[in-house]
Amino acid sequence: SGYWVLVPAAGIGKRMGADRPKQYLPLLGRPLLSLTLRNILTWPGVAGVVVALSDDDTYFEHLPEAGHPQVHRVTGGAERADSVLAALNFLATREAGDTPVLVHDAARPCVALEDIEALLDDDVSPSALLALPASDTVKQSRVEGGRSVVDSTLSRDSVWLAQTPQRAPLALLHSCLRRGLERGEPVTDEASALELSGHRPQLVPGRRDNLKITHPTDILLAETILRLRYA
Ligand code: CTP
Ligand code: MG
Repeated sequence: SGYWVLVPAAGIGKRMGADRPKQYLPLLGRPLLSLTLRNILTWPGVAGVVVALSDDDTYFEHLPEAGHPQVHRVTGGAERADSVLAALNFLATREAGDTPVLVHDAARPCVALEDIEALLDDDVSPSALLALPASDTVKQSRVEGGRSVVDSTLSRDSVWLAQTPQRAPLALLHSCLRRGLERGEPVTDEASALELSGHRPQLVPGRRDNLKITHPTDILLAETILRLRYA
C-alpha cells in the first residue's frame, strides 16, 4: 500500500549556468536534492522513492539521504521523460500496476504538505497534477517578417502552469510515457504523456511557493520561502 515518488534528478542545469548541476547547489547550506528528498520523506504514505541520476553523477552518494532505506537510485536519460521512464522501468518490476505514482522534480524543494494532501485527496482523480492558475495575461504568438507578434490572447481562466508532483497509476503512466516517447511526441511532463493517449488529468490548484529552481534568482526566492516556513 501507499504510493511511490519518482524524482527526476539527471539534468545538467544549463539555464542555471553553475559549476555543477543545479540539484547539487546549496540552499540554506544544504544541497537542493537533499532538501527535496528530505521534504518527500515527510509526506504521509510514501512507500518508496526512486531518484533518476545522470550516469556520471559523483555528488549523490555524499548526500545524507543516499543511504536511506526507502531511497533507490536509477540511471536517467537524455531528456526528463527518459529519466522518468527509467524510474518507471525499475518500479514496474517490483510493484502492482495500480500503485499510485507521484513524479516530483528534484528542482522543486518548496512544495508544501498541504499541496501534497490536496493532490492525494480521495475526491481527486487518480491522474492529476498540481498547477498554478495563470496570473499574467497570456499571449499566443506567431512569427511575421522575422518578428514575434501577438496572434491571440488566451482566456486567462483556462490557462494553468503545470507544476509537480504529477500523479498517475504506475501501469497507466508507464504505457503512456513509453508510447509518447516511441512516437517521438514532445513529452515535457507526465500529464502530456497521458493527454497524448487521450486521458484528461485533473488540475489541482497549487501555489507559487512551489517554484522550479531554474535561474540563479530562483535560489534566493526558494531560500526566503524555506526560511519563512521553517523559522
Ligand atoms: N531532468 C532529468 N533528466 C534530464 C533532464 C532533466 O531527470 N535528462 C530533471 C532535472 O534534474 C530537474 C527536472 O528534471 O529536476 C526538471 O528539469 P529542468 O528544470 O529543465 O532541469 P535541467 O534540465 O537540469 O535544467 P536546464 O533545462 O536548464 O538544463
Ligand atoms: Mg531541462
